Amino acid sequence: METPTARGSLSETVLVAMRSGDTSQLVGVDGADDSDDAQIALWALFELHHGGFDDVTDELEWDPQLLIVRRRLEQEFEQELRGRAPESPERGDFAEDFFAYIAGHDGPSLTLHLERSATREQMRQFLQHKSIYTLKESDHTTWTIPRLPHSIKAAVVELQYDEYGAGDPSRLHAHLYARGLAASGLSAEYGAYIDQAPLEVLEQNNVMSMFGLNRRLVGASLGFLGAFEATSSAPSRRIAGGLERLGFPTEMTEYYTEHVEADSIHEQLAVRNICGALIDLDPSQYENIYFGAWACLHVDDRYAERMLKEWGV
Ligand SMILES: [Fe+2]
Ligand SMILES: [Fe+2]
Repeated sequence: METPTARGSLSETVLVAMRSGDTSQLVGVDGADDSDDAQIALWALFELHHGGFDDVTDELEWDPQLLIVRRRLEQEFEQELRGRAPESPERGDFAEDFFAYIAGHDGPSLTLHLERSATREQMRQFLQHKSIYTLKESDHTTWTIPRLPHSIKAAVVELQYDEYGAGDPSRLHAHLYARGLAASGLSAEYGAYIDQAPLEVLEQNNVMSMFGLNRRLVGASLGFLGAFEATSSAPSRRIAGGLERLGFPTEMTEYYTEHVEADSIHEQLAVRNICGALIDLDPSQYENIYFGAWACLHVDDRYAERMLKEWGV
């Protein structure tokens, strides 16, 4: 993948520095022009810890100037999210309360629109946006593994084993998605649609990377995972229905039907054996777990609102 197009003066400076390898120009650089500028710069900086870019040397992954900019953007982003986050619910039976918290959340339903009335073009746009995350599905959770106590580590790896195809590369969820994209006449190349990704897609991706890469946010990362898995099964069924209605190839539908069943199991694992078990071992993780879960629902709502508005729904 090549570096994305800049969306303002900070991302321009960061991307020029990354491509040239001369990061001295970042010393004392001004803040971002706006959220788009900040989020694309942050996305590119996080990407150095994922697959990187063809036009940026791997040497820059731990470049101090880039890390200073990343840290600043992360802090601003986290503060913004924490400023919007509600209080965590009172402590009680964790799994029961957590599932009730998810069930009680009432956001705009993009997947209902995709199921019943989206046009083919809208569905293609949705698949392109989702490709930014889904082609590296679950990787951010892998970053939490070395930071966890033994029992939680085992449960996260059990879940990840499934996400990564249970030993069969052709069953890797990211691979299923790539196959679906290719069969649908879309690019299956990682990052192909980054320049088309709206701000809300960048936020979704950046929040996952931020939680995964910071040990102090390990609870938030797992809370995000819990909410993500617990809100996947029914929406996946709706998306699969929409894809069928619009005549998309079975390879694309299969990615979503796979998640109808898989995530009804994953949600139990993530909520009970991962989040609940972590709180039992370390009650101080409670607030962070709820913060992560809220962040998952919040960024998803923001994306849904954006697209429904753009599509005039
Ligand atoms: Fe998956
Ligand atoms: Fe899953």
